[in-house]
Amino acid sequence: MIKLGVNIDHIATFRQARGEGVPSIIEAALVCEKAGADGITVHLREDRRHIQDYDVYSLREVLKTKLNLEMAATEEILSVALDAKPDSVCMVPEKREELTTEGGLDVKNNKKNISSIASKLKKAGIAVSIFVNADLEQVAACSEVGADAVELHTGKYSLLFRESGASSSECKDELKRIAEASKEASKRKLILNAGHGLDYENVGQICKIRGMNEFNIGFSIISKAIFNGLQKAVFDMKSLIEKNS
Ligand code: PXP
Repeated sequence: MIKLGVNIDHIATFRQARGEGVPSIIEAALVCEKAGADGITVHLREDRRHIQDYDVYSLREVLKTKLNLEMAATEEILSVALDAKPDSVCMVPEKREELTTEGGLDVKNNKKNISSIASKLKKAGIAVSIFVNADLEQVAACSEVGADAVELHTGKYSLLFRESGASSSECKDELKRIAEASKEASKRKLILNAGHGLDYENVGQICKIRGMNEFNIGFSIISKAIFNGLQKAVFDMKSLIEKNS
């Protein structure tokens, strides 16, 4: 069965907006585990806009499943990873001005830096994944730099699914590209993961691609959680006010 890693960065974004320590990342992670998540993913961005260093260390201590750390391929974040020792690291590209991770990492043209970071992580016993577009050459490059896994970027597919529809030729073509890149990953004995933009409508087709090991999903789950919980949250506050009035 394909595993689910839940990305909880969005809870941290909400926490940072008020700066008062709530909602708790730890509580969120434990709820996800209780609900069946196979792992928790966080992205420690260079600008620390949501997840903070202490979140990574605290999660490392409390999680019963796995901690996957997304990070830019830089020495500064590498030092946190080597110290906190997540189960796995997924190297991602990072631009300060972007709202979210916009594309895959260009492994093909940055082999030296990426393989040096990958080997330091592996030496510390941390599994290495790399977030790449569904591109055969990028998948091949992941294997050449010594990655254990690839995470295929499903953002373009998700966007086309929403904007053009699942049966549009653009969406079908992108799905085909993801399937081809998946085949290449399997051929090269890379563990095959996928993520970005996956939601309750578009995940089904990605599940059908052979060899998928794990999805990392954040935004759609946290968005759904708001509406699954809002009614009860209002009801509980209303009851409390009534009881005390
Ligand atoms: N995988 C990677 C590498 C990401 O950068 C992100 C976004 O932080 C995700 C998965 C999850 O994407 P989403 O929040 O759209 O589900």
